[in-house]
Amino acid sequence: MRIAIPTLLFSFLFLVSCNKDEPITDSSGETYMLQIPQGFQAPEIPDDNPLTPAKIALGKELFYDPILSKDNTISCGSCHMQNHGFSDDKALSIGVEGKVGERNSPTLTNVAYKPHFFKDGGIPTLELQILAPFDNELEFDLNIVDAVDRLKADDHYSAEFLKVFGTEPSAFGLTRAIAAFERTLLSGNSRFDRHFIQGRSVLTDAELRGYELFKSDELQCASCHSGIMFTDYSYQNIGLKENYPDSGRARITVNQADAGKFEVPTLRNVAVTSPYMFDGSIETLDGVIDFFASGGTNHPNKSELIQGFEISDQEKADLIAFLNSLTDQSFLSNQEFQP
Ligand code: HEC
Ligand code: HEC
Repeated sequence: MRIAIPTLLFSFLFLVSCNKDEPITDSSGETYMLQIPQGFQAPEIPDDNPLTPAKIALGKELFYDPILSKDNTISCGSCHMQNHGFSDDKALSIGVEGKVGERNSPTLTNVAYKPHFFKDGGIPTLELQILAPFDNELEFDLNIVDAVDRLKADDHYSAEFLKVFGTEPSAFGLTRAIAAFERTLLSGNSRFDRHFIQGRSVLTDAELRGYELFKSDELQCASCHSGIMFTDYSYQNIGLKENYPDSGRARITVNQADAGKFEVPTLRNVAVTSPYMFDGSIETLDGVIDFFASGGTNHPNKSELIQGFEISDQEKADLIAFLNSLTDQSFLSNQEFQP
């Protein structure tokens, strides 16, 4: 499937390109007010995909509909589950016919802010990302053209696409609608946010000590997990493996210096997105901290920031308490995101 990405990009241009002079606008005419969390900047919304209530509702319906997979068993929501911060609980996600995927399913928390997609950064936009599960035999395993034909044969979807896009179901509309829904998945109301952004002093001493450790020169966590999203979106080799079975960023750049580099993930809602790492090989936050404390392998591309450190049981408990304070319960139970 990774090898298929250039083909995928190519077919995308054919299927959904539109003339710049004739922007396709949403015929519903209504506008949607994105509830931007306090302290966050507004995410960029592409000109050809304005947010409207009807489009977001259609995108949500498609996100949860297994009609998009070969055997009608898997939807986006199968691998991106709300109670897991829109990730899943498997080491490697499971597609049609129980086929095991190649990477751990990432959270979609605040995905609207991401500058690139996939752990190797191989996909430039959210709209384009939506094509990936279709051609992947380990995910939907259904050609996008066939998926669109299914929607055309469905009276309800035909009516909804007409309402939202003024056309019959199309790959253009499908990708725009799901991306619009994904851009509403904003999360900025964790205990950490209430304390530091909303100024409500809710964090415990343990959580505050954990935050200090997180930022400390010794642990260096905040050097990569920086800013309001707790990531700088860079690609780093953390020395997880001696020999990586997945070359990570090098899959895209074909440069050995990028082998074993993966995008720094956000830590928002990290307590509910286990297991961790590109391959789901670490089950708990405790295990993640033990890994960073060990300093990892001697992979030639390993970041200099990963040096290992000593940490007491108390400090580890504090650091975990801090990571748990990044969970946004209102996001995980928000009914607007439910099918
Ligand atoms: C079989 C499980 C599975 C299904 C079905 C699935 N995904 Fe994913 N998704 C993944 C995995 C695994 C990745 C990570 C891929 C990678 O990094 O190479 C991913 C990555 C993503 C990303 C990129 C996130 C990031 O941080 O870069 C987005 C967005 C996304 N999926 C949305 C969707 C949407 C929308 C659908 C439905 C059209 C969908 N996914 C269907 C498992 C799945
Ligand atoms: C050199 C940059 C860097 C530093 C320093 C760093 N991390 Fe990370 N962290 C990453 C990358 C890259 C990944 C993803 C690796 C992968 O996908 O295999 C990651 C993964 C994680 C994960 C798993 C998240 C997930 O969704 O899978 C947690 C939790 C985490 N880091 C916490 C920490 C803590 C705590 C520290 C400090 C002790 C720290 N990190 C230091 C780059 C860094």
